[in-house]
This record gives sequence, C-alpha cells and structure tokens, in this order.
Amino acid sequence: MHRATREAWDEAAERYEGWFDEAVELIRSGGTNLLPPELELIGDLHGRCRRAIHLQCAGGRDTLSLWNAGAAEVVGLDFSPRMIDLARRLSDAVHAPATWIEADVLDTPHELDGTADLLYTGRGSLMWLQDLDAWAAVLRRLLAPTGRLVIFEGHPVEWLFDVGADGHWIATDYDYFAGPEASRGWAPEYIDTLSIPDDDQHWKFARAWTLGEIITALLGAGLHLDRVAEHSTDWWGGHADARPEEQGRIPLSFSVLGRLPSP
Ligand SMILES: C[S@@+](CC[C@H](N)C(=O)[O-])C[C@H]1O[C@@H](n2cnc3c(N)ncnc32)[C@H](O)[C@@H]1O
Repeated sequence: MHRATREAWDEAAERYEGWFDEAVELIRSGGTNLLPPELELIGDLHGRCRRAIHLQCAGGRDTLSLWNAGAAEVVGLDFSPRMIDLARRLSDAVHAPATWIEADVLDTPHELDGTADLLYTGRGSLMWLQDLDAWAAVLRRLLAPTGRLVIFEGHPVEWLFDVGADGHWIATDYDYFAGPEASRGWAPEYIDTLSIPDDDQHWKFARAWTLGEIITALLGAGLHLDRVAEHSTDWWGGHADARPEEQGRIPLSFSVLGRLPSP
C-alpha cells in the first residue's frame, strides 16, 4: 500500500510544483506556512534547536518555515522523489541549511537517530501510514535526549462530517473503524485535478487512525506525552464553506507535544 501511495503522491507533486514561486517568496521573506496552533507549540527555535526533523515534508515549505522559526538546520524526509527534488530546489533558492532524504518514513535512516531537537510531523501525514507502531518507534529513535515531538494532524472525526449545501454539517458515510480505503483523484479544495486524469492515476490508500490508536502507538513506543489537544482549526481548508456558527463545533485537528521519558 505504501508503494502505491508513493506513486500517487509523486503524481500529486505536480500541484506543489505550481506553488514553487510562492513558496520561495514566503520563505525568503522570513514567513511561515505553519498554522497558529503549530506556532504556539513549536515556539521560537532560535538558540534552542540545532536540528529540526520534519517527517513527510512534501515540497519543504513547512520544513523551511521551521528554519525561519530559528532552527539552525532542518532535515526533511519524504518518499516522493518529485517532492524531494522540489524541496531541494526551494532550499537552494533561499540558501537554507537543509538536508532532504527520499525514504519511506518507516525506513528513516539510522544516522538521524537521537538528533532531533524538534521532531515535527502532521498536516495530512498519518492517514497514509499502514503501521502506526512502526511509525511511533521511528519517532522515539529520532528524538534527541532533550528533543521535543510536535504533531499537528487532521482529527479522525473530520472524516465523519462534511458541509451540506446549506452550510451545516452533515454525516458522511465513512466508517470510523473500517481501516484503509483505496481511492483515485484528489479533493478539489487541496490537490484538485492533475494533468493525469483521475482514472489513470495510481491508487492510494488512506485511513483515519482513531485518536485511541494514535495515542496508544505513541505510548507503546515509550514516549512521554506532555499534552494532547483537539482543535477546530480547518488545517487544509476543506471545510471553509461551513457557516460561521458551525465552525468551531467539531474537532478538525489535534496536536501532541511529547518527548523521551526522563531517565
Ligand atoms: C499532505 S503532505 C504532508 C503535509 C505537508 N506539510 C504539506 O505541505 O502538504 C503528505 C506527504 O506525506 C508523504 N508520504 C506519505 N506516506 C509516506 C511514507 N510512508 N513515507 C514518507 N513520506 C510519505 C507524501 O509524499 C506527501 O508529500
């Protein structure tokens, strides 16, 4: 499933390539693509983060936002060669101290073990993974002894709700406990149409891991969790047409702040 999903993401990189100039401008001007709840968790990294590692970094825009937040060096990892190429072009354009690694997150190279002062991931990452225990074990081995783990991710409950024509929430037919779903094509609010027609695109496999499964995987890897929070932040703009009085009623994202347990 990961192999198929990788092909689909490599196709979707086309959309990210279209955002390249905008991304260069954003990073060059010292800006950020991170959302307010993420900035609050990550804080000012100047003088306190030698290395930030971003897992599932896509085209590097969020990774380089960590550099703008003060990380001395950033490392981004993604399994799509086209995304990694794009990220490299972005860091070259802004002369950023960045290393890009093309790999499945479950095969993150061991040379990074114990080096993440900040380990960051999320924003549409976990749903593509099919083994959360293996993922959590990677997080554990990457963290530096005093490193912080920051996850900001889509809330699984988001899969259960959509916005109806009148701007009110309606239930989708998604089964919260069903496991991976195969699909082709992308949401119009995000990737939308590509030059390859939907029916000719690779299949991809996504699932809404439940909050219980995610937290249990993190605890099972021996991580210490300082905070788990749910947010109404519409992290990908997929529900922008909800009426103002409807926004804020449903958790659309969640965050985790974690670290290695004290010795
Ligand atoms: C929605 S993006 C992550 C959020 C990102 N910050 C952004 O700008 O959109 C998901 C990324 O995860 C990557 N990905 C999915 N499964 C992966 C895996 N098993 N290993 C490594 N990368 C993966 C995809 O290639 C894609 O670039």
